[in-house]
Amino acid sequence: MAKYEQLADRLAIQIKQGIWQPGEKLPSLRKQSSLTGYSLMTVLHAYQLLESKGVLSARERSGYRVAESVEVSSTANAVQSAESVSVNDFVFDVLQASRDPHMFSLGFAYPDPSLYPRQHLNKSLAAAAKQTTVTSALDNLPPGNQALRKLIAQRYAARGMHISPDEIVITAGALEALSLSLQVVTRPGDWVLIESPTFYGAMQALERLGLRAVTVDVTPENEINLAAVERALQSKPVKACWLMSNFQNPVGYSLPDEKKQALAGLLKKYDVALVEDDVYAELYSGEELPWPVKHFCDDGNSLLCSSFSKSLVAGFRIGWVAAGKHANAIQKQQLMSTISTSVPVQLALVDYLETKNYEKHLHQLRRALHQRKLAMYHFLHEHWGRFAKVHYLQGGYFLWIEFCPNTDAMVIYKIAQSLKISLAPGKLFSLSGEYNHCLRINASFELTPSRRQLMNKLTNKIKQYLEQF
Ligand SMILES: Cc1ncc(COP(=O)(O)O)c(C=O)c1O
Repeated sequence: MAKYEQLADRLAIQIKQGIWQPGEKLPSLRKQSSLTGYSLMTVLHAYQLLESKGVLSARERSGYRVAESVEVSSTANAVQSAESVSVNDFVFDVLQASRDPHMFSLGFAYPDPSLYPRQHLNKSLAAAAKQTTVTSALDNLPPGNQALRKLIAQRYAARGMHISPDEIVITAGALEALSLSLQVVTRPGDWVLIESPTFYGAMQALERLGLRAVTVDVTPENEINLAAVERALQSKPVKACWLMSNFQNPVGYSLPDEKKQALAGLLKKYDVALVEDDVYAELYSGEELPWPVKHFCDDGNSLLCSSFSKSLVAGFRIGWVAAGKHANAIQKQQLMSTISTSVPVQLALVDYLETKNYEKHLHQLRRALHQRKLAMYHFLHEHWGRFAKVHYLQGGYFLWIEFCPNTDAMVIYKIAQSLKISLAPGKLFSLSGEYNHCLRINASFELTPSRRQLMNKLTNKIKQYLEQF
């Protein structure tokens, strides 16, 4: 095989593997030549050969690009065989599928990234890069950047919740905050109370820490049943309770204040630590930021976890835990695992919160999410209403869809995949398989005319599937 054919083969494989995506520019002839050691002529012949096969297209003065029509292997394929594996593997597959840039990501857990204030964040990152010094890493060790902890405490204080900056530990997103919290209040083999359905991160954390779950069913209409919580606390020596009281993922309810207060009382009575996941609190659509259950706890045994991932930017991976009496233990655990969160990113957030208008951004974000969620709800209610219950609860950006109990939402999930739509099937949110007829839909994306068309196609295919029953 001639050298140019060898290079062409190598590039074709890279394109198939998705290293070079359709439409993406390949390195210039000169750059490819210096990268690979082949002569300029060899590279040119290899590119021309791929062009003649329709793999590359040449544009005058802009070099060679991967043809738009080229098939690249998609991570979505991995999901096809994932039906009978553990929560962890299944979650991994679904998340991988949502990452496909050509997907309409209704299975995605984060809001539409176009809603983040990208320019302001970039400016803050640039400002942080200028401030970073060789000692910055030491200054930002656990519990994390002092100014950032103070700014977070001030935001709680502004609405009358007294959380000292000393109680706050900065983490890599809410997920690290939640995992560390669970870790410091339990030992392997302990019982933990969780909701069902629940955020899959809770089940993964339990699995990883060797903990046992006692579940309490929750519904969009009745939220969590406190009598059932008390029965669970009586039936098992529960050490911790991991729950969401605001815009629960996946179902979407928020507990009224009286229920939050009663829950705080129950946990205190049975000496159970509260690991509270409050990542969606800022995305309310009524008048006021809702209280967390921690507001009603007075024994320091509650760990309130949150982050900027849903309200400002997912990729910064900055969260925190207001850990009460467990703050020191959290810091020690963090030192043993990740040491600290990224220093420039912590500094960038300080810059953003101090110099940009976070409140204004939140106001715009809440309004956009509210409008988009309503638009998606109306679409689904109109087109799916005959065969599914579309639950609409204010706040956040998820819709919980319930088909008839004999419907297999995994089939709908796969139908959607074939149309390049990702969905979050109910199986992701339960240990028991009880919600296999349900779906969670991310309604933060704008329902443009072309997306409506795509959703119409999905609706027709779902109808065909349901006609079999
Ligand atoms: C309910 C819930 N908690 C926690 C997280 C993780 O948040 P973060 O990205 O800040 O780690 C997510 C992300 O999807 C979530 O949905």
